[in-house]
Amino acid sequence: MSKRHRLPAAAPALAANAPPAEAAIGTLAGDVLRGLNATPRQLSSKYFYDARGSRLFERIMRLPAYYPTRVEARLLRRHARALLGALVPTAAPVELLELGSGDGRKTLALCRDWLKAGTSLSYRPMDISAQALERLGQRVARQLPALSVQPLCGDYFQTWPLPQARRHQVALFLGSNLGNFTDAEAHRFLRRVRAHLRAGDSLLLGLDLRKDPRTVLAAYDDPEGVTAAFNLNLLRRLNRELGMDFDLDGFRHYASYCPLQGVARSFLVSQRAQTVNSRVLGQSFPFGPGEVIYTEQSQKYERAGVDAMAVACGFAVHAWFEDPELPYALVACRAQA
Ligand code: AVI
Repeated sequence: MSKRHRLPAAAPALAANAPPAEAAIGTLAGDVLRGLNATPRQLSSKYFYDARGSRLFERIMRLPAYYPTRVEARLLRRHARALLGALVPTAAPVELLELGSGDGRKTLALCRDWLKAGTSLSYRPMDISAQALERLGQRVARQLPALSVQPLCGDYFQTWPLPQARRHQVALFLGSNLGNFTDAEAHRFLRRVRAHLRAGDSLLLGLDLRKDPRTVLAAYDDPEGVTAAFNLNLLRRLNRELGMDFDLDGFRHYASYCPLQGVARSFLVSQRAQTVNSRVLGQSFPFGPGEVIYTEQSQKYERAGVDAMAVACGFAVHAWFEDPELPYALVACRAQA
């Protein structure tokens, strides 16, 4: 798996420009301050999802070029019953814990099938968006009133430990969200999930796989410009929340894909020499023409790397369901003792 950029432990400029007291690591202010003082400058993709960013991401998921959502939904429908066999070894009651459920659209198809198979199922969707969870609740009430749902509003980066269920636990982490982490972050996250589960519990990962580089690149550079708007929206958010004065016309979206590392990367490229100021951070950031802000990585995986990562984090890959046309995998893992 690739070596990807990481934020340095402390950026040198911090000493000269002391951050406000609340600008701790893991907060927007702290992360932006560190990221914009780093080389190359970078911003975490976790900050894409304000209300407008979430709406733009919903549009991305419907774009013809953005295949992951479509392919994953197809795999979940096609293999719903086989997934039950792979993730639930006995006829035990199951708790499905979905990390980053959104409005749960794809997962409800799985729940419907498992209920039909006679599974005693409870569903704990976790998402940072209270609105998405509300929509999910309404959808369940309409479509699957028999399903017991305990929504959990929180951030899967931070909301640990979670209360443990007495049932057989199946954690879901879909959408190739794992690919937005660095290798170190992905390992830390999977170890956290493993610590939450008991030996024998299961984890289902949805992971995008390596494929024709042009197919991947097109997914992050759509001709409609929705991904560009999604990327630029991050600057709009910083203007609003950190009193910054980014000129949105002064930066352009740029996407790349490296087939050797299997990483799609997104950047915002400064179109001229310009200085951006932040009232809240009390700092100015000079940009040269062509200077980039690295905003997102999306790892595309290979089977061997996934097997090794699972083992390193206390899981074993138990079953692998792959789309034959567009490589994408649902990976059923079992928590090891
Ligand atoms: C949420 N995540 C898995 C998406 C991805 O493919 O990396 C986010 C995204 N960024 C641009 N398009 C979609």
